[in-house]
Amino acid sequence: MKALFVDACVREHSRTRTLCEAYMRTHWEERDVDIQKLELEKEPLVPLDRERLLKRDSDIAAGNFLSEEYRYAREFAGADEILIGAPYWDCSIPAKLKTWLELVCVNGIAFRYGRTGGL
Ligand SMILES: Cc1cc2nc3c(=O)[nH]c(=O)nc-3n(C[C@H](O)[C@H](O)[C@H](O)COP(=O)(O)O)c2cc1C
Repeated sequence: MKALFVDACVREHSRTRTLCEAYMRTHWEERDVDIQKLELEKEPLVPLDRERLLKRDSDIAAGNFLSEEYRYAREFAGADEILIGAPYWDCSIPAKLKTWLELVCVNGIAFRYGRTGGL
């Protein structure tokens, strides 16, 4: 079983991260779970722009998902369980988490749909 912890906590002494660590101890570490921790603070997350969106559309059409650009989507798709730790931030989520979600949502990796709906 593979688990992914997405740490979107910004503050060094984050209460949200403390809660997530307690969850991981009781739900994952006591079982035989392979845990990947993704610390968004350390990730070079850049929001999609027009050029990269066009490239992504053509990669999706060609089924070409080898680029490093799709690492987050592959990690997401490869996990059986995902824990996202994020504080409430300006009536929303931290911006790096939104960017991560944007990069995860690749049709053909994280989910699939075609002209007639889900595949
Ligand atoms: C930049 C920033 C923005 C925040 N925005 C909100 C908000 O919109 N609404 C709210 O109820 N709390 C807001 N808070 C309070 C945090 O959600 C709260 O302190 C939370 O416990 C922080 O989590 P952490 O300890 O994991 O960093 C904000 C805090 C910070 C530092």
